[in-house]
Amino acid sequence: MVPELASRDHIRRAIPLLEQTLQGAGIAAKDVDAIAYTQGPGLAGALLVGSSVACSLGLALDKPVLGIHHLEGHLLSPLLASDPPEFPFVALLVSGGHTQLMRVDGVGQYELLGETLDDAAGEAFDKSAKLLGLGYPGGPAISRLAEFGDPAAYKLPRPMLHSKDLNFSFSGLKTAVLTVVKNQGMTNICEQSKDQMRANIARGFVDALVDVLVAKCVAALKQTGLKRLVIAGGVGANSQLRAALNDAAAKKRFRVYYPELEFCTDNGAMIAFAGAMRLRINPEAARREYSFNVRPRWPLDELKVV
Ligand code: KG4
Ligand code: ZN
Repeated sequence: MVPELASRDHIRRAIPLLEQTLQGAGIAAKDVDAIAYTQGPGLAGALLVGSSVACSLGLALDKPVLGIHHLEGHLLSPLLASDPPEFPFVALLVSGGHTQLMRVDGVGQYELLGETLDDAAGEAFDKSAKLLGLGYPGGPAISRLAEFGDPAAYKLPRPMLHSKDLNFSFSGLKTAVLTVVKNQGMTNICEQSKDQMRANIARGFVDALVDVLVAKCVAALKQTGLKRLVIAGGVGANSQLRAALNDAAAKKRFRVYYPELEFCTDNGAMIAFAGAMRLRINPEAARREYSFNVRPRWPLDELKVV
């Protein structure tokens, strides 16, 4: 990812996408109540594009604007489903940049229970996929490949599985994939064996990562005494993770909630929804003051109750 190129791409796409979305929804820009935009965390250049488009539109249309935390968008996205969870719940946020367990008591009431000490789960998917010669984003590709893998072929390490806290560490797992790929000497074997070996490694990787995520979710529910678990972020689209969590939920008697698949990976609806939730609780949450700053680093538990 080249930040500067990503920002330029955002500039080119923002207005046409906005027009297309309004047209699809059958409303005019003047009909919206407020404009929500992602204020952080993330790449500064891309955040600046979104913020400047949103605040300029707000000024031009005389609409209030509100800056939303990207992870709050993910966290609240399961509430867009037809059978949404009630507060309080434990949320596992698993995206390309974050792996966190949070206790969620309401909009703006987030307590960090544990997080990754190094790579995020999605990052581990993407880096391991690259080592296996798969494209970006690696998550869906490695997940599909793993379906054909033999679970007994490679037993990869389960980092921090027994750490007795709710933190994660995934960089060692990626290194384990690298070591296996190197040691297998994939250069002198036929294509068919190579494909099977890649599938086996993918399977070993997914099984290890899913084992750790599920164990920590179960531990977080036990620690908080809560019975509702919400999964959010791109990795939440993963079918193996969903199957393992559903299994654990049936055995340990808790309920697990997922966003609709289209709201798992990054999307604008979750930001609009988080904005709407904040406005519903506090109509003063949006402002008519159109200068803006972005927050590339912004811990979620710094968000205030609205
Ligand atoms: O939430 P997201 O769209 O963007 C961030 O905020 O980071 O998450 C993107 C991440 C990528 O690392 C991608 O590989 C991963 O989510 N991902 C998946 C799947 N779909 C997306 N990982 C595993 N299995 C999937 N099906
Ligand atoms: Zn995201």
